[in-house]
Amino acid sequence: MSEQRRFDVWQAGPGYERFMGRWSRRVAERFTALEGHADGLRWLDVGCGTGALTSVLAARCRPAVVLGCDRSAELVTTARDTAHGPVGFAVADARALPVRDASWDVAVSGLLLNFLPEPAEGVAEMTRAVRPGGQVAAYVWDYAEGMQVLRHFWNAATSVDPAAAELDEARRFPLCRPDPLHALWTQAGLTQVRVTPLVVPTPFADVTDLWSPFLAGQGPAGTYVTGLPPDQRDRLRTALARSVPHDPEGTITLSARAWVVRGVRA
Ligand SMILES: C[S@@+](CC[C@H](N)C(=O)[O-])C[C@H]1O[C@@H](n2cnc3c(N)ncnc32)[C@H](O)[C@@H]1O
Repeated sequence: MSEQRRFDVWQAGPGYERFMGRWSRRVAERFTALEGHADGLRWLDVGCGTGALTSVLAARCRPAVVLGCDRSAELVTTARDTAHGPVGFAVADARALPVRDASWDVAVSGLLLNFLPEPAEGVAEMTRAVRPGGQVAAYVWDYAEGMQVLRHFWNAATSVDPAAAELDEARRFPLCRPDPLHALWTQAGLTQVRVTPLVVPTPFADVTDLWSPFLAGQGPAGTYVTGLPPDQRDRLRTALARSVPHDPEGTITLSARAWVVRGVRA
């Protein structure tokens, strides 16, 4: 594992929900509403985590079945324990999915691709899994700009500790922009490729509501925070609190943009 990938840690439980799950569920809801889908489809959700997208697909898309796959047994257990409807799960790596060729109608993936060492391998697997005419779709955060809480976070972190620039997800994940995503889908042989933005509100009640989820040590930002000595952590909290816009009543109104990429297997 590279020095930077050491930071790409996700764990089940309230920490994930407070840090990422509460926003990834909103994105999943908006994503499934983007365009109409037929009833009775077979959906594959790759990198399902605690099941944010899987559960929205089951609740809103009237599927025949949804299979969620994630390499983390712990996250899959949480997803399984909270699932409803025609849903199954597998502990599996996105680069070697335990499914037959062309056996799914739609393969989707929420907030996963940039965490794969070779994203093209994941896209190739999703493409292999869907039938000709089936759809392959994914979304990732716009770390460079539109995922505002993480943008403020890494700007503040770098202002306090210039070495944090190496860990900034905008720098680490250049894939998460329209042109590279479009190229990735096209190079996988997918057709009718489109990349579109999807924006969700991410309101915070106050600075504590914004800051405390980072202390759960989830993903690159949280892992960075929990590795800091207390004085540096305090300086980062102060810098972050100064940088975000406060409404008169103390609330912090931010938004998060994801890039959605979709294509069709020829
Ligand atoms: C940010 S979470 C997103 C989870 C979920 N899709 C959501 O939208 O909330 C990233 C997920 O990717 C999973 N993951 C990372 N690398 C993976 C791999 N090689 N194969 C399968 N899952 C992977 C992690 O375990 C984690 O659950």
